[in-house]
Order: sequence, then structure tokens, then C-alpha cells
Amino acid sequence: MSTSAATLGSPLKKNKAQVSLVGAGPGDPELLTRKAHRLLQEADVVLHDRLVGEGVLALIPVHVERFYVGKRRAQHSVPQEEINAALISWAHQGKRVVRLKGGDPFLFGRGGEEMESLIAAGVSVDVVPGVTAASGCAAYAGIPLTHRDYADGVTLLTGHLPASEYDWPALIRARHTLVFYMGVTNLAVLTAALLEHGMRADMPLAIIEHGTLPTQRTQVATLSSWRAVIDSESLDSPALVIIGEVTACDRVVRFP
Ligand SMILES: C[S@@+](CC[C@H](N)C(=O)[O-])C[C@H]1O[C@@H](n2cnc3c(N)ncnc32)[C@H](O)[C@@H]1O
Repeated sequence: MSTSAATLGSPLKKNKAQVSLVGAGPGDPELLTRKAHRLLQEADVVLHDRLVGEGVLALIPVHVERFYVGKRRAQHSVPQEEINAALISWAHQGKRVVRLKGGDPFLFGRGGEEMESLIAAGVSVDVVPGVTAASGCAAYAGIPLTHRDYADGVTLLTGHLPASEYDWPALIRARHTLVFYMGVTNLAVLTAALLEHGMRADMPLAIIEHGTLPTQRTQVATLSSWRAVIDSESLDSPALVIIGEVTACDRVVRFP
């Protein structure tokens, strides 16, 4: 990565042109960090994604210019180059720019690419972490991602790759939780590959839609049964898939 520590954010001296790359969390506005909230209050312009919740957007003062640059998988409404160019241009005009992203900016959110392009253009970057969907969904569903009795580790993965691109034997480990982001459309392929590579057919699995929002829905099934139990047509975005013993805990909050 061609980043230079001198151009990154605090506590080092900053260039004048600056962008704050801010995580908005998974939806519940109370999960926003205090730093993210302060930067939104101080901003001149905010660019936000589709997954930034309405409750968080409502915290942006009305005088702040606000642009939606949302993307859906395979359907980029504003090309990434245009987003980068706008951020760079506003930063060089001396505006206080917030690039607001759902969850955490450095997890499956192209935050790394945006940071690199800003730094290459002489813009310094402050990165403000957010609660990622895995943490938010799991917490609000009562699913501990690790647990002394069931899981010693957790892997966060994108779920939209072809099955041939995953290292299945490495992923199918005892006492391990898998979290697939963007995995619902590909769930039949993912679960078939897990079964084929030896994961137990009765391994529990949870699908959490609208995590941390009042509309959150959690459905629990098993690797082999989910297609019969869960109507995949009815699943709404955003949704996260968690696979592992931890999803069988009695604590799982199915309909909070
Ligand atoms: C492009 S990724 C962005 C992830 C984000 N940067 C993060 O840290 O959570 C979008 C995917 O995150 C998951 N996701 C984000 N917010 C969610 C929510 N509130 N409930 C369930 N899944 C969510 C979904 O799998 C969705 O398809």
C-alpha cells in the first residue's frame, strides 16, 4: 500500500486538504461514535452510501451539503472515480469533507481504495472506525461471535465470490464462526460448498436482516435445512449470514 504515515490523520501534522473517512455503524444511530457525530456537526459536505441509516442521516445538520453516492452490488450509481474526484476537489477547496460509510469504512467498503486515492492526490485522511455489521447484528441478535464453549475465532468474509475462490478447508475448522457479508444471493452456492468440503449438515446458521434497526429479523436454521425453512425470496437487504455453533445458543433473539 502506497500510504505515507505523514499524510495520514491525527496525531501527525495534517495538510490543509483533508477528508474524514467515517464509519456510520450498521443502522442504529446510537451506535455512532462520538467522533463521527462531532465530524458530522462540523462538516461542510457529506457523501454517504446506501447503507447509512436514516437515523444517522437525521443527525446531519440541515445546512450541511449532502450527497448520496450509494451503490448496489454490480450496479454502481456513481462511479468510484467520480466519488474520488469529488472528495479531492472539495478537500482542495478547503471544505470539511466527511465520507460517511455504512458499518466500518475499512471492512468491505472500499475505504482502503478511497484513502489511497486521496493520499495520492495530496489530501490527508482521518479514518474513524464504525461498528461493523458483524458486531452490530450479532450483538442485537444475542449471538456471541466467539464463546468459550463453542468458538475460539471468527472469520469475516465477502459472500459474493465464486465458490472456487474460497479456501474451504481453511474455513471449515472446529470451534470457528464464519460471517458472510453480501452472502444472501450466493447462499445456496456457499452452503453447498461448505457441505461438500465436510461441514456438518446440522451446523447452525443465522440470517439477520436490517441488523440493529427496529425492523431487524433473525432467522435460524441449519446448513442443510435453511432452504426448506427460510423463504429466500422474502429476505430483504441488508442481510448478514453467520454460520457456526454460536448461532445455536439459546440466547439468539429471533424477533427483537
Ligand atoms: C458493502 S458491505 C459494507 C459493510 C460495512 N462496511 C460494515 O462494516 O458493516 C454491505 C454488506 O454488509 C452487510 N450489512 C451491512 N449493514 C447491515 C445491517 N444493518 N444488517 C445486516 N447486514 C448488514 C450486508 O451483508 C451487506 O450486504
